[in-house]
Amino acid sequence: MSRAALSVLLAFVAAAVAQQDPPGSTPLAEKHFSYPDGIPYKVDTLTGIRGTQSGYNMCNSTTEGPESLCQTGFINHIDDWCVWAPPSGPTTIGDSEGDEVAWCTKPGRGTRIIPAGAITGVQFLRAKSYVEVLAFFDQTLLNMTPDDFGGELDPHGRDLRGNPMGGLIYSNGLPMSGSGDNNTFTQVIEWHNFIGANFSCFKACDPQDPDAPNYCYNRLDRVGISYVCPNQAQNNVFEVCDSDNQDFVGVYTSDGQTLTYTQPADDVPITMPYTARIPASSNCVTYQSTDLFPNLPTPTRAAASAGATPTGSGSGAGSPSRTGSAGSSPTGAKGSGSSSGGAAPTGGAATGGAAALHGSAFAAFAGLAGAVFFL
Ligand SMILES: *[C@@H]1O[C@H](CO)[C@@H](O)[C@H](O)[C@H]1NC(C)=O
Ligand SMILES: *[C@@H]1O[C@H](CO)[C@@H](O)[C@H](O)[C@H]1NC(C)=O
Ligand SMILES: *[C@@H]1O[C@H](CO)[C@@H](O)[C@H](O)[C@H]1NC(C)=O
Repeated sequence: MSRAALSVLLAFVAAAVAQQDPPGSTPLAEKHFSYPDGIPYKVDTLTGIRGTQSGYNMCNSTTEGPESLCQTGFINHIDDWCVWAPPSGPTTIGDSEGDEVAWCTKPGRGTRIIPAGAITGVQFLRAKSYVEVLAFFDQTLLNMTPDDFGGELDPHGRDLRGNPMGGLIYSNGLPMSGSGDNNTFTQVIEWHNFIGANFSCFKACDPQDPDAPNYCYNRLDRVGISYVCPNQAQNNVFEVCDSDNQDFVGVYTSDGQTLTYTQPADDVPITMPYTARIPASSNCVTYQSTDLFPNLPTPTRAAASAGATPTGSGSGAGSPSRTGSAGSSPTGAKGSGSSSGGAAPTGGAATGGAAALHGSAFAAFAGLAGAVFFL
């Protein structure tokens, strides 16, 4: 083989192995834009291995509504937040992660608006280093299949383009960066959204805290919400609470030693060596959902028949009880390949439910041999 042919072959093999886009493309988490005036049409202009950014970041009254492909979202207050969910469906988070769009509770920023009847409970936590929205909802109203255990969306991914690609998050309510003025928005550099099993945790870490990457750590995607966002949120309750900071994601104490958990390879089943500490919350103020979300649009498609109303029984995998151990916390398990990986125990790795969940999610994995996973 000629030297030229060999170098072409090597380059091809290297590209195939690394699955990386051209050098010089700036990681999403290093792109900074002021809101609203500094937002470009799309923040990701690459045509890479995963294609191009499917939506846009410049969002306004002409883009708002059920067809919006806005990929600029917000985590502000209990009545003013978004989740990432598919632009069309029904589909899974694993199959749509690069393309998710912002579904929000408040009109006026060019996004989709979460339909009436979808949200059945919210806990908004204000911690020293982050704000976090824990939401129960009927995911079939957000283009998700009813049985999807979901996955993790964050501004990284193996190719560093983020999931969704080009997705931006802003807040006017951060604990350190917030000015108290709702018209001043700070770009949230580190965030993660675990969504699936009719439950979502969206954590927005304050960029002024040097530990933001530890609280919004993005490499425990298969482990699930009860480890990444340990919480006591309850379905059918709408409340704002002050919260202690959680422990750094994946960091725990055993026999007086501080240890860091590392997620195993995608084909290795997860056995958690610890239970995450649920941070204490206080000063909770409860609301009526009709007061928080008075103007949500009528759903454009019918909800799944069971549990489509705000009074749903909450017997699913995503329904914790306040008195429960970590084992009763909601899960963000995912059963499909993606940035996010897979099985997530429901908290107590020892519970039957967690084991069952594991089994099914792991089975889903078996069909994905060879898939590229984006952390
Ligand atoms: C509104 O947003 C769309 C889509 O990003 C963009 O093409 C258009 O220029 C924007 N309009 C204004 C007035 O900013
Ligand atoms: C900011 O908005 C929230 C509701 O989203 C409201 O509760 C709060 O009072 C507002 N803050 C100010 C300073 O207007
Ligand atoms: C989500 O809620 C729908 C509607 O209640 C239900 O059919 C489905 O089983 C739930 N999914 C999960 C994963 O719990």
